[in-house]
Amino acid sequence: RSVAVLGAPFSKGQKRRGVERGPKAIRDAGLIERLSNFDYPVHDFGDLSFQNLENDEPYLQVPSPRSVGRATNMLSEAVSNAVAAGHTTVMLGGDHSLAIGSVEGHARQCPDLCLIWVDAHADINTPLTSPSGNLHGQSVAFMLKELQNKMPELPGFSWVQPFLSAKDLVYIGLRDVDPGEYDILKDLGIQYFTMRDIDRLGIQRVMEVTFDHLLSRKQRPIHLSFDIDAMDPSLAPATGTPVNGGLTYREGIWITEEIHNTGLLSVMDLVEVNPVLGASPEAVEMTASLAVDVIASSLGQSREGGPIAQTQTL
Ligand code: ARG
Ligand code: MN
Ligand code: MN
Ligand code: MN
Repeated sequence: RSVAVLGAPFSKGQKRRGVERGPKAIRDAGLIERLSNFDYPVHDFGDLSFQNLENDEPYLQVPSPRSVGRATNMLSEAVSNAVAAGHTTVMLGGDHSLAIGSVEGHARQCPDLCLIWVDAHADINTPLTSPSGNLHGQSVAFMLKELQNKMPELPGFSWVQPFLSAKDLVYIGLRDVDPGEYDILKDLGIQYFTMRDIDRLGIQRVMEVTFDHLLSRKQRPIHLSFDIDAMDPSLAPATGTPVNGGLTYREGIWITEEIHNTGLLSVMDLVEVNPVLGASPEAVEMTASLAVDVIASSLGQSREGGPIAQTQTL
């Protein structure tokens, strides 16, 4: 296998500036060097470039719909191409609206994929339930077939048709769910683990039930969408919507190790690192290097170490 890294410096799925600098911050924290220690080739495809759209009037209370629609469409093409070329693909955000593009592009190549969404938030508001209007809090609603008749037609989004079933999605790390989101989670019977569930069951059991739910009937490609705000703000302060009481470092790494160990990870997103929001350079550095650890662990970096590579032995 080979790995493709794709940067998406985009921030119009929310209102705070700076998250478009996430890909640079994660690269500066040493991502490519870390991945080059592994025994497979790494292709850094650089960053996509998103043009500024003028006259992108809000739709109801949703800002920048055409910009988000166009950026996610571009990203979808790029992810679809990387997956078709045989790469395990890593998408660096940018805000979480980008997942509309990365998961859709992945699904074009792998229609039977399942989605693991690691986040403090469910990001399943519709434009009508969203308290903020922000599209990074609505990504999953664009994907789900079951929400088709609850979604208004947003300018910029005619390219995307719902492609995912509610049963093919699991959330881990939730602790800030809006009332409209709660109703959707319950109505659709979505499998989710809040921080309270993690406290009760332990992260090892949470991952067992996650894989039972998604993989027990058949092995299928996994899309991991990892919002850095899933981690506790003491570890990941440089992010737009931090919520106290998040994943510990060891819980976060356990999740990604277990996903790696399935051998089924196909695409991952690492989103919402915002270097402008760190209170100090150290806070930014801590958040970005945590993002590197999460990615490396998803791709097989192990706390157990590993043998001398075959190619280096006589
Ligand atoms: N639920 C809130 C909203 O809809 C916050 C969403 C935060 N999303 C994120 N990707 N950080 O605006
Ligand atoms: Mn979040
Ligand atoms: Mn999110
Ligand atoms: Mn391995």
